[in-house]
Amino acid sequence: MDSFALVIFGITSNLAQIKLIPALYDMAEKGLLPDGMTIIGTARKEMSPSEFKEYFKKVLNTENIHHQHAIKEEVFNDLCKRLHFVNGNLDDPKFYEKLKNYLNELSGQGHPCDNRIYYLATYPDLYHHIFENLQKFGLNTQDEGYVRLMIEKPIGNDLNSAKKLNQLLLKYFSEDQLYRLDHYLGKESVQNINILKSTNAGFWKIMNNKKVDEIEVVVSEDMGVGNRITYYNDAGAIRDMIQNHLLQVLSLVLMEKPKNYSSKEIHNEKIKILKKLELSNMDEYLIGQYKSYLNEAKKFNVKNSKSETYAKIILNCKNKRWDGTKLVLISGKKLPKRYGRIIIKFKNPRNRVVINLQPRQDITAKLDGKSIRNMKYCIECGFKPNSPDAYESLFKDVINNDKSLFVTSEEVYLSWKLVDKIEKLRNKIKFVYYSDNKNP
Ligand code: BG6
Repeated sequence: MDSFALVIFGITSNLAQIKLIPALYDMAEKGLLPDGMTIIGTARKEMSPSEFKEYFKKVLNTENIHHQHAIKEEVFNDLCKRLHFVNGNLDDPKFYEKLKNYLNELSGQGHPCDNRIYYLATYPDLYHHIFENLQKFGLNTQDEGYVRLMIEKPIGNDLNSAKKLNQLLLKYFSEDQLYRLDHYLGKESVQNINILKSTNAGFWKIMNNKKVDEIEVVVSEDMGVGNRITYYNDAGAIRDMIQNHLLQVLSLVLMEKPKNYSSKEIHNEKIKILKKLELSNMDEYLIGQYKSYLNEAKKFNVKNSKSETYAKIILNCKNKRWDGTKLVLISGKKLPKRYGRIIIKFKNPRNRVVINLQPRQDITAKLDGKSIRNMKYCIECGFKPNSPDAYESLFKDVINNDKSLFVTSEEVYLSWKLVDKIEKLRNKIKFVYYSDNKNP
């Protein structure tokens, strides 16, 4: 594998602390970081090389529901050999000059950085500064090696802004350089939805509107919004979770088995589904806010917010296989328990399939009232508290230039189109305040 540098813009962000740094550590522990990989973190604050390593260590030793195992000193020391830090303001051209010089220096020291993966773990307001300056200093071109850009949600906050962001991206990068990331697609349990379909012919045969009454996708979190209120308050549960993660999971469940599992075929099939989704049973929609939200929000000067921390949305998929099957999407914070689950309710009440996405990852199925034990699902079915974090898979795929677990601009647009329709009707949706850690 050719040497490359992973440059993370925003290494002190919440995302980097909760997901990216732990994922990189886990990859190091499993020997999954390629030999010639250099990791460069960037942030505003100044840190010496040793302070930067201390920062990594502190992050890894901080309690984190996504990363609950002990840190091995030898793995950490090994990871440290790859770590570098460049400080500066992302809206200041001087920072990019410094970054360019640093990359050249590293290359001169035997750590070639002509191949580069950039990760945007920073505020979208900064994107245009980043892109402009990368171009100004020749850091976005692929003359000497590849340049790939990982960009995470929010990809816009409605259809129009998503289109604008895409135009901005395409001004500085070509489509093949872009990796639009939805971390739910990196979850092993979500990837297994396709395996489940293709290895259990009997299951896929009964997956249709004649047999299935309802499919429910639920992502329930027990934690509140915490210190992400400034972002979250503008987004709310529908934009934060339903527009991306839940619609992606739903389209994976509903899509036809692709001709092959190439990135193109998977995207085509998902797009066919997203095009056919429509709002349904609007009288059953529900949005809500947990009672302590406003108190938390006050600390961030957010007042009188009616942002939803819970949402229940019903859809219909107007195609031959699914028209008439009720599709329920539920997501919320400060609910009784943390779990992700797909529940398939058949018309015959003796049949039911539950795909547990997290933290438990398995499948329970009853067909004709009998438990099915031999459904092929994950390679090792069962509870796997340390199953690879989604970001590991996604990093691996970007390194290997595989886009099947990433989202195309068309998928993003179709999801926003649907969400924009919901947002327009927001005033008609019932709103409730719910007690912390209770269901609305
Ligand atoms: C993020 C949302 O995309 O996903 C968060 O912005 C949410 O609000 C998180 O908490 C949930 O991810 P996971 O992997 O913990 O289920």
